[in-house]
Amino acid sequence: MGAAAAIPFFTEMAQAQQVARAAAVTSPRAMRAFDPDAIVISSNENPMGPSKEGIEAMAKVGPLGWRYRPQGENVDFEKLLHSTENVKQGYVMGFPGSSVPLANCAPAFTSPTRSWVMASPGYGSGAGRFVGNKVVKVPLRKDYTHDVEAMIKADPNAGAYYICNPNNPSGTLTPRKDLEYILAHKKKDAVLIVDEAYVHFSGQENYSTELVRQDKDVVVLRTFSKIYGMAGLRAGALYGRPDLLDKVAEFGRGGNLPVTATACAAASMKVNDALMKERIAINKRNREYAYETLDKLGVSYIPSVSNFFMMSVKGMTGAQVGTAMAAKKIILAGNRWPEWPQHIRVTVGTYEEMTKFNAAIAQVVKEGPKA
Ligand SMILES: Cc1ncc(COP(=O)(O)O)c(C=O)c1O
Repeated sequence: MGAAAAIPFFTEMAQAQQVARAAAVTSPRAMRAFDPDAIVISSNENPMGPSKEGIEAMAKVGPLGWRYRPQGENVDFEKLLHSTENVKQGYVMGFPGSSVPLANCAPAFTSPTRSWVMASPGYGSGAGRFVGNKVVKVPLRKDYTHDVEAMIKADPNAGAYYICNPNNPSGTLTPRKDLEYILAHKKKDAVLIVDEAYVHFSGQENYSTELVRQDKDVVVLRTFSKIYGMAGLRAGALYGRPDLLDKVAEFGRGGNLPVTATACAAASMKVNDALMKERIAINKRNREYAYETLDKLGVSYIPSVSNFFMMSVKGMTGAQVGTAMAAKKIILAGNRWPEWPQHIRVTVGTYEEMTKFNAAIAQVVKEGPKA
Protein backbone atom coordinates (compact mmCIF):
# COMPACT_ATOMS: atom_id res chain seq x y z
CA MET A 1 0.00 0.00 0.00
CA GLY A 2 2.87 2.31 0.82
CA ALA A 3 4.32 1.77 -2.61
CA ALA A 4 0.98 2.39 -4.29
CA ALA A 5 0.67 5.68 -2.46
CA ALA A 6 4.18 6.73 -3.41
CA ILE A 7 4.09 5.76 -7.06
CA PRO A 8 2.04 8.27 -9.01
CA PHE A 9 1.84 6.23 -12.23
CA PHE A 10 -0.11 3.60 -10.37
CA THR A 11 -3.38 3.63 -12.32
CA GLU A 12 -5.22 6.48 -13.93
CA MET A 13 -7.11 7.21 -10.73
CA ALA A 14 -3.94 7.50 -8.66
CA GLN A 15 -2.51 9.95 -11.18
CA ALA A 16 -5.64 12.03 -11.16
CA GLN A 17 -5.61 12.12 -7.38
CA GLN A 18 -1.98 13.13 -7.30
CA VAL A 19 -2.61 16.03 -9.66
CA ALA A 20 -5.62 17.04 -7.61
CA ARG A 21 -3.61 16.93 -4.38
CA ALA A 22 -0.79 18.93 -5.93
CA ALA A 23 -3.24 21.54 -7.15
CA ALA A 24 -5.02 21.51 -3.78
CA VAL A 25 -8.33 21.06 -5.50
CA THR A 26 -11.10 18.58 -4.88
CA SER A 27 -10.28 15.28 -6.54
CA PRO A 28 -12.65 14.16 -9.29
CA ARG A 29 -13.56 11.13 -7.18
CA ALA A 30 -14.29 13.21 -4.11
CA MET A 31 -16.49 15.41 -6.23
CA ARG A 32 -18.43 12.43 -7.50
CA ALA A 33 -18.92 11.23 -3.96
CA PHE A 34 -20.51 14.53 -3.09
CA ASP A 35 -22.32 15.15 -6.32
CA PRO A 36 -23.94 12.18 -8.03
CA ASP A 37 -24.88 14.42 -10.99
CA ALA A 38 -21.27 15.07 -11.96
CA ILE A 39 -20.13 13.37 -15.16
CA VAL A 40 -16.69 11.90 -14.51
CA ILE A 41 -14.95 11.32 -17.81
CA SER A 42 -11.39 11.69 -16.58
CA SER A 43 -9.92 8.21 -16.11
CA ASN A 44 -10.57 6.39 -19.40
CA GLU A 45 -13.06 4.06 -17.78
CA ASN A 46 -15.66 2.33 -19.88
CA PRO A 47 -19.25 3.05 -18.86
CA MET A 48 -20.44 -0.01 -20.81
CA GLY A 49 -19.21 -1.88 -17.73
CA PRO A 50 -18.60 -5.61 -17.40
CA SER A 51 -20.27 -7.80 -20.03
CA LYS A 52 -23.62 -9.43 -19.28
CA GLU A 53 -21.91 -12.84 -19.37
CA GLY A 54 -19.23 -11.56 -16.97
CA ILE A 55 -21.79 -10.25 -14.48
CA GLU A 56 -23.61 -13.59 -14.52
CA ALA A 57 -20.34 -15.43 -13.92
CA MET A 58 -19.51 -13.13 -10.99
CA ALA A 59 -22.93 -13.65 -9.43
CA LYS A 60 -22.36 -17.37 -9.61
CA VAL A 61 -18.90 -17.36 -8.09
CA GLY A 62 -19.51 -14.61 -5.50
CA PRO A 63 -21.05 -16.84 -2.81
CA LEU A 64 -18.12 -19.24 -3.19
CA GLY A 65 -15.63 -16.44 -2.62
CA TRP A 66 -14.56 -17.90 0.69
CA ARG A 67 -12.46 -20.41 -1.28
CA TYR A 68 -9.20 -19.30 -2.88
CA ARG A 69 -10.12 -21.02 -6.15
CA PRO A 70 -13.76 -22.08 -5.95
CA GLN A 71 -14.42 -23.50 -9.42
CA GLY A 72 -11.10 -23.12 -11.14
CA GLU A 73 -11.92 -19.74 -12.72
CA ASN A 74 -8.21 -19.02 -12.60
CA VAL A 75 -7.58 -22.03 -14.84
CA ASP A 76 -10.17 -20.91 -17.36
CA PHE A 77 -8.82 -17.38 -17.24
CA GLU A 78 -5.22 -18.43 -17.87
CA LYS A 79 -6.27 -20.82 -20.65
CA LEU A 80 -8.24 -18.09 -22.40
CA LEU A 81 -5.41 -15.57 -22.05
CA HIS A 82 -3.31 -18.04 -24.04
CA SER A 83 -5.88 -19.14 -26.61
CA THR A 84 -7.29 -15.71 -27.48
CA GLU A 85 -3.80 -14.54 -28.50
CA ASN A 86 -2.64 -17.92 -29.73
CA VAL A 87 0.54 -17.91 -27.66
CA LYS A 88 2.42 -20.95 -26.41
CA GLN A 89 1.97 -22.25 -22.87
CA GLY A 90 3.87 -20.08 -20.38
CA TYR A 91 3.89 -16.98 -22.60
CA VAL A 92 1.40 -15.03 -20.48
CA MET A 93 0.96 -14.22 -16.83
CA GLY A 94 -2.26 -12.88 -15.30
CA PHE A 95 -2.20 -9.87 -12.97
CA PRO A 96 -4.78 -7.78 -11.13
CA GLY A 97 -4.68 -5.07 -13.84
CA SER A 98 -1.70 -3.95 -15.91
CA SER A 99 -0.38 -1.29 -13.50
CA VAL A 100 1.39 -3.94 -11.41
CA PRO A 101 3.33 -5.59 -14.26
CA LEU A 102 4.04 -2.15 -15.75
CA ALA A 103 5.53 -1.01 -12.45
CA ASN A 104 7.50 -4.24 -12.12
CA CYS A 105 8.97 -3.86 -15.62
CA ALA A 106 10.96 -0.90 -14.29
CA PRO A 107 13.22 -2.76 -11.84
CA ALA A 108 13.18 -5.83 -14.13
CA PHE A 109 14.61 -4.08 -17.21
CA THR A 110 16.05 -0.71 -16.18
CA SER A 111 18.62 0.60 -13.71
CA PRO A 112 20.37 3.88 -12.92
CA THR A 113 22.50 3.27 -16.03
CA ARG A 114 20.06 1.45 -18.35
CA SER A 115 17.24 3.87 -18.96
CA TRP A 116 13.50 3.67 -19.61
CA VAL A 117 12.88 5.52 -22.89
CA MET A 118 9.36 6.71 -23.51
CA ALA A 119 7.32 9.25 -25.44
CA SER A 120 6.51 12.76 -24.38
CA PRO A 121 3.67 13.07 -23.71
CA GLY A 122 3.21 9.45 -22.77
CA TYR A 123 1.76 7.33 -20.03
CA GLY A 124 3.02 7.11 -16.49
CA SER A 125 5.89 9.60 -16.48
CA GLY A 126 8.38 6.71 -16.72
CA ALA A 127 7.90 3.82 -14.34
CA GLY A 128 11.63 3.52 -13.63
CA ARG A 129 11.94 7.03 -12.21
CA PHE A 130 10.28 5.94 -9.01
CA VAL A 131 12.92 3.37 -8.16
CA GLY A 132 15.78 5.74 -8.96
CA ASN A 133 16.27 4.61 -12.54
CA LYS A 134 16.99 6.82 -15.51
CA VAL A 135 14.07 7.97 -17.65
CA VAL A 136 14.50 9.55 -21.07
CA LYS A 137 11.54 11.27 -22.71
CA VAL A 138 11.36 11.80 -26.45
CA PRO A 139 8.70 14.02 -28.08
CA LEU A 140 6.13 12.31 -30.28
CA ARG A 141 6.45 12.99 -34.02
CA LYS A 142 4.23 15.65 -35.57
CA ASP A 143 1.77 12.93 -36.56
CA TYR A 144 1.68 11.76 -32.91
CA THR A 145 3.47 8.47 -33.57
CA HIS A 146 6.46 7.48 -31.43
CA ASP A 147 9.69 8.86 -32.90
CA VAL A 148 11.51 5.56 -32.74
CA GLU A 149 14.68 6.77 -34.47
CA ALA A 150 14.97 9.57 -31.92
CA MET A 151 14.17 7.15 -29.08
CA ILE A 152 17.09 4.92 -30.04
CA LYS A 153 19.34 7.93 -30.60
CA ALA A 154 18.35 9.43 -27.24
CA ASP A 155 19.78 6.39 -25.46
CA PRO A 156 21.19 3.51 -27.49
CA ASN A 157 22.10 1.86 -24.18
CA ALA A 158 18.58 1.88 -22.74
CA GLY A 159 17.25 -1.13 -20.83
CA ALA A 160 13.65 -0.63 -22.01
CA TYR A 161 11.82 1.24 -24.76
CA TYR A 162 8.22 1.83 -23.74
CA ILE A 163 5.59 2.30 -26.41
CA CYS A 164 2.01 2.88 -25.40
CA ASN A 165 -0.12 1.82 -28.36
CA PRO A 166 -2.50 3.55 -28.81
CA ASN A 167 -0.67 6.19 -26.81
CA ASN A 168 -2.17 7.73 -23.72
CA PRO A 169 -2.87 10.70 -23.86
CA SER A 170 -2.77 11.26 -27.65
CA GLY A 171 -5.03 8.30 -28.52
CA THR A 172 -2.92 7.57 -31.61
CA LEU A 173 -1.23 4.47 -32.99
CA THR A 174 2.42 3.84 -33.81
CA PRO A 175 2.75 1.42 -36.75
CA ARG A 176 4.23 -2.06 -36.47
CA LYS A 177 7.24 -1.13 -38.61
CA ASP A 178 8.26 1.36 -35.90
CA LEU A 179 8.07 -1.31 -33.20
CA GLU A 180 10.24 -3.47 -35.43
CA TYR A 181 12.71 -0.60 -35.83
CA ILE A 182 13.22 -0.55 -32.06
CA LEU A 183 13.74 -4.32 -32.00
CA ALA A 184 16.28 -4.09 -34.81
CA HIS A 185 18.25 -1.18 -33.31
CA LYS A 186 18.13 -1.64 -29.52
CA LYS A 187 20.95 -3.24 -27.53
CA LYS A 188 20.74 -7.02 -27.56
CA ASP A 189 19.67 -7.36 -23.91
CA ALA A 190 17.17 -4.47 -23.96
CA VAL A 191 13.41 -5.00 -24.24
CA LEU A 192 10.52 -3.38 -26.02
CA ILE A 193 7.51 -2.86 -23.74
CA VAL A 194 4.25 -2.38 -25.61
CA ASP A 195 1.40 -1.13 -23.46
CA GLU A 196 -1.80 -2.13 -25.20
CA ALA A 197 -4.31 -0.98 -22.58
CA TYR A 198 -6.48 0.54 -25.35
CA VAL A 199 -5.53 -1.56 -28.36
CA HIS A 200 -8.87 -3.39 -28.52
CA PHE A 201 -10.64 -0.15 -29.46
CA SER A 202 -8.32 0.24 -32.45
CA GLY A 203 -8.84 -3.20 -34.00
CA GLN A 204 -7.19 -6.58 -33.93
CA GLU A 205 -4.76 -5.76 -36.74
CA ASN A 206 -2.88 -3.57 -34.26
CA TYR A 207 -2.25 -6.23 -31.62
CA SER A 208 1.49 -6.77 -31.23
CA THR A 209 1.24 -10.19 -29.60
CA GLU A 210 2.42 -11.33 -33.05
CA LEU A 211 5.90 -10.22 -31.91
CA VAL A 212 5.53 -12.38 -28.79
CA ARG A 213 4.63 -15.36 -30.99
CA GLN A 214 7.86 -14.67 -32.88
CA ASP A 215 9.87 -14.87 -29.62
CA LYS A 216 11.13 -11.28 -29.91
CA ASP A 217 12.53 -9.28 -26.98
CA VAL A 218 9.12 -7.84 -26.30
CA VAL A 219 6.57 -7.80 -23.51
CA VAL A 220 2.98 -6.75 -24.14
CA LEU A 221 0.75 -5.35 -21.40
CA ARG A 222 -3.00 -5.88 -21.56
CA THR A 223 -5.81 -4.90 -19.25
CA PHE A 224 -9.47 -5.69 -18.70
CA SER A 225 -10.02 -2.17 -17.36
CA LYS A 226 -10.81 -0.60 -20.71
CA ILE A 227 -12.83 -2.30 -23.45
CA TYR A 228 -13.96 -5.01 -21.00
CA GLY A 229 -15.23 -2.33 -18.58
CA MET A 230 -13.63 -3.93 -15.50
CA ALA A 231 -11.42 -1.17 -14.03
CA GLY A 232 -12.69 -1.72 -10.49
CA LEU A 233 -12.55 -5.51 -10.74
CA ARG A 234 -8.82 -5.68 -11.55
CA ALA A 235 -7.62 -8.08 -14.21
CA GLY A 236 -4.78 -7.76 -16.67
CA ALA A 237 -1.98 -9.71 -18.28
CA LEU A 238 1.61 -9.60 -19.38
CA TYR A 239 2.59 -11.44 -22.56
CA GLY A 240 6.17 -12.37 -23.40
CA ARG A 241 8.79 -15.08 -23.58
CA PRO A 242 8.99 -17.05 -20.30
CA ASP A 243 12.51 -15.73 -19.56
CA LEU A 244 11.22 -12.14 -19.79
CA LEU A 245 8.13 -12.90 -17.69
CA ASP A 246 10.38 -14.49 -15.08
CA LYS A 247 12.40 -11.29 -14.81
CA VAL A 248 9.24 -9.27 -14.15
CA ALA A 249 7.96 -11.91 -11.73
CA GLU A 250 11.07 -11.47 -9.56
CA PHE A 251 9.42 -8.28 -8.36
CA GLY A 252 6.03 -9.85 -7.72
CA ARG A 253 4.37 -12.77 -9.38
CA GLY A 254 1.04 -12.62 -11.13
CA GLY A 255 -1.90 -14.51 -9.73
CA ASN A 256 -3.65 -13.15 -6.66
CA LEU A 257 -6.60 -12.05 -8.75
CA PRO A 258 -10.05 -11.84 -7.21
CA VAL A 259 -12.18 -14.80 -8.26
CA THR A 260 -14.89 -12.37 -9.36
CA ALA A 261 -12.42 -10.70 -11.75
CA THR A 262 -11.13 -13.94 -13.25
CA ALA A 263 -14.67 -15.29 -13.65
CA CYS A 264 -15.82 -12.06 -15.30
CA ALA A 265 -12.77 -11.81 -17.57
CA ALA A 266 -13.01 -15.45 -18.62
CA ALA A 267 -16.73 -15.20 -19.41
CA SER A 268 -16.05 -12.02 -21.40
CA MET A 269 -13.22 -13.57 -23.40
CA LYS A 270 -15.57 -16.40 -24.37
CA VAL A 271 -17.72 -13.83 -26.20
CA ASN A 272 -14.79 -11.75 -27.45
CA ASP A 273 -15.85 -11.34 -31.07
CA ALA A 274 -19.33 -10.02 -30.33
CA LEU A 275 -18.13 -7.96 -27.36
CA MET A 276 -15.40 -6.19 -29.35
CA LYS A 277 -17.62 -5.55 -32.34
CA GLU A 278 -20.39 -3.96 -30.29
CA ARG A 279 -18.14 -1.92 -28.00
CA ILE A 280 -15.87 -0.60 -30.74
CA ALA A 281 -18.96 0.62 -32.60
CA ILE A 282 -20.56 2.29 -29.54
CA ASN A 283 -17.29 3.98 -28.56
CA LYS A 284 -16.76 5.24 -32.13
CA ARG A 285 -20.30 6.59 -32.36
CA ASN A 286 -20.03 8.47 -29.05
CA ARG A 287 -16.55 9.78 -29.89
CA GLU A 288 -17.74 11.07 -33.25
CA TYR A 289 -20.79 12.60 -31.62
CA ALA A 290 -18.43 14.74 -29.53
CA TYR A 291 -16.22 15.52 -32.55
CA GLU A 292 -19.27 16.85 -34.46
CA THR A 293 -19.87 19.39 -31.71
CA LEU A 294 -16.19 20.29 -31.45
CA ASP A 295 -16.02 20.79 -35.23
CA LYS A 296 -18.98 23.17 -35.10
CA LEU A 297 -17.41 25.09 -32.21
CA GLY A 298 -13.96 25.31 -33.79
CA VAL A 299 -12.42 23.36 -30.93
CA SER A 300 -9.44 21.36 -32.16
CA TYR A 301 -8.84 17.76 -31.16
CA ILE A 302 -6.47 14.93 -31.98
CA PRO A 303 -8.36 12.21 -33.88
CA SER A 304 -8.18 9.17 -31.63
CA VAL A 305 -8.57 5.44 -32.16
CA SER A 306 -9.27 4.93 -28.48
CA ASN A 307 -11.86 5.69 -25.80
CA PHE A 308 -10.44 9.14 -25.07
CA PHE A 309 -9.16 12.14 -27.01
CA MET A 310 -7.22 15.34 -26.44
CA MET A 311 -8.89 18.65 -27.24
CA SER A 312 -7.77 22.24 -27.20
CA VAL A 313 -9.95 25.36 -26.94
CA LYS A 314 -8.48 28.41 -28.63
CA GLY A 315 -7.41 31.08 -26.15
CA MET A 316 -7.70 28.81 -23.11
CA THR A 317 -5.27 26.50 -21.36
CA GLY A 318 -6.27 22.92 -20.67
CA ALA A 319 -6.43 23.78 -16.98
CA GLN A 320 -8.81 26.67 -17.64
CA VAL A 321 -11.04 24.42 -19.72
CA GLY A 322 -10.93 21.79 -16.97
CA THR A 323 -11.99 24.28 -14.31
CA ALA A 324 -14.76 25.73 -16.49
CA MET A 325 -16.09 22.27 -17.34
CA ALA A 326 -15.90 21.16 -13.69
CA ALA A 327 -18.05 24.15 -12.77
CA LYS A 328 -20.62 22.61 -15.13
CA LYS A 329 -20.14 19.24 -13.44
CA ILE A 330 -18.17 17.66 -16.25
CA ILE A 331 -14.90 16.31 -14.86
CA LEU A 332 -12.05 15.93 -17.37
CA ALA A 333 -8.39 14.95 -16.99
CA GLY A 334 -6.56 18.23 -17.10
CA ASN A 335 -3.11 19.37 -16.02
CA ARG A 336 -1.52 15.98 -16.37
CA TRP A 337 0.74 16.58 -19.37
CA PRO A 338 2.89 19.68 -18.93
CA GLU A 339 4.22 19.19 -22.49
CA TRP A 340 0.81 20.13 -23.84
CA PRO A 341 -0.58 22.86 -21.59
CA GLN A 342 -3.24 23.82 -24.13
CA HIS A 343 -4.78 20.35 -24.19
CA ILE A 344 -7.17 18.52 -21.95
CA ARG A 345 -8.16 14.86 -22.16
CA VAL A 346 -11.73 13.68 -22.52
CA THR A 347 -12.84 10.10 -21.91
CA VAL A 348 -15.62 8.94 -24.22
CA GLY A 349 -18.66 8.39 -22.04
CA THR A 350 -22.17 7.18 -22.76
CA TYR A 351 -24.27 8.91 -25.42
CA GLU A 352 -26.15 10.73 -22.66
CA GLU A 353 -22.91 11.81 -21.01
CA MET A 354 -21.55 13.09 -24.32
CA THR A 355 -24.77 15.03 -24.84
CA LYS A 356 -24.06 16.83 -21.56
CA PHE A 357 -20.40 17.19 -22.46
CA ASN A 358 -21.38 18.77 -25.79
CA ALA A 359 -23.70 21.26 -24.13
CA ALA A 360 -21.10 22.18 -21.50
CA ILE A 361 -18.21 22.66 -23.93
CA ALA A 362 -20.42 24.87 -26.13
CA GLN A 363 -21.06 27.10 -23.11
CA VAL A 364 -17.40 27.14 -22.11
CA VAL A 365 -16.35 28.22 -25.60
CA LYS A 366 -19.02 30.93 -25.57
CA GLU A 367 -17.97 32.25 -22.16
CA GLY A 368 -14.24 32.11 -22.90
CA PRO A 369 -11.50 32.31 -20.26
CA LYS A 370 -12.44 33.80 -16.91
CA ALA A 371 -10.29 36.78 -15.97
C1 LIG B 1 -1.72 3.28 -20.93
C2 LIG B 1 -2.16 2.62 -19.69
N1 LIG B 1 -1.49 1.57 -19.23
C3 LIG B 1 -1.84 0.94 -18.12
C4 LIG B 1 -2.91 1.36 -17.38
C5 LIG B 1 -3.23 0.63 -16.12
O1 LIG B 1 -4.51 0.20 -16.05
P1 LIG B 1 -4.99 -0.98 -15.08
O2 LIG B 1 -4.05 -1.09 -13.95
O3 LIG B 1 -6.35 -0.59 -14.68
O4 LIG B 1 -4.94 -2.21 -15.92
C6 LIG B 1 -3.64 2.46 -17.80
C7 LIG B 1 -4.79 2.96 -17.01
O5 LIG B 1 -5.49 3.85 -17.34
C8 LIG B 1 -3.25 3.13 -18.98
O6 LIG B 1 -3.89 4.21 -19.43
